[in-house]
Amino acid sequence: MGKAKGESRGLAYLQQVRPQAVSHLLRFFRESGQHLEPRTRFLISIVTKVINLSPRGLQQYVRRALDEGASPDEIIDAVLCAYPCAGLTKVVDALDVILDMKLPGFEAPGEGDDSTAAEGPVAKGEWVEVGTREELGEDERLEVNVADRSLAVFEADGEIFVIDGLCPHRSGPLVRGQLQGKTVTCPLHQWQFDLESGACQDNPGARVGTYEVRVEDDGRILVKF
Ligand code: FES
Repeated sequence: MGKAKGESRGLAYLQQVRPQAVSHLLRFFRESGQHLEPRTRFLISIVTKVINLSPRGLQQYVRRALDEGASPDEIIDAVLCAYPCAGLTKVVDALDVILDMKLPGFEAPGEGDDSTAAEGPVAKGEWVEVGTREELGEDERLEVNVADRSLAVFEADGEIFVIDGLCPHRSGPLVRGQLQGKTVTCPLHQWQFDLESGACQDNPGARVGTYEVRVEDDGRILVKF
């Protein structure tokens, strides 16, 4: 029996030594949520992981909920919903776990200043540094704010692209979208955008803003406004 991504060793072991008992349990879990969309199921799972104080499970379901389009506010609401059963200590511990994940959108006010490349007004045609290649990290992406504008920086097929960070549909955080080649898919309703042109493949009337980019020899990424 294969081990699903994120599944615990203990569960895999039980599936080997008690296949009958575990299959009943797993079927119960699958069927008990069959009328709920995945995002709602994962948010409910976050509530249970806070109550059970399961950091690994919490991280797993936070990621799944985000992948299904949940917003940071919804995740925090789910954590708070655990309060009547879990109490304040577990709620606060759960928030520590989530903050340690360093996910975009979970910075406290005043934090995340690192991602603010320029606070004042930016003149048209001005080049502004938005980060370095190194800062793109393994995810090959970076979220920055320039003069109150949210931008998403991606590395795709060895090139750097900068687009507006908010989806023109309903402001989905494109920096958390799935990247495939030079196409990013919005995590909320899966509209797809070409990183080069900004064109939306799902709605010809919509497009996301794109920016001219320059990468210096030392890895600094500059964007032209
Ligand atoms: S917010 Fe709906 S597709 Fe992006």
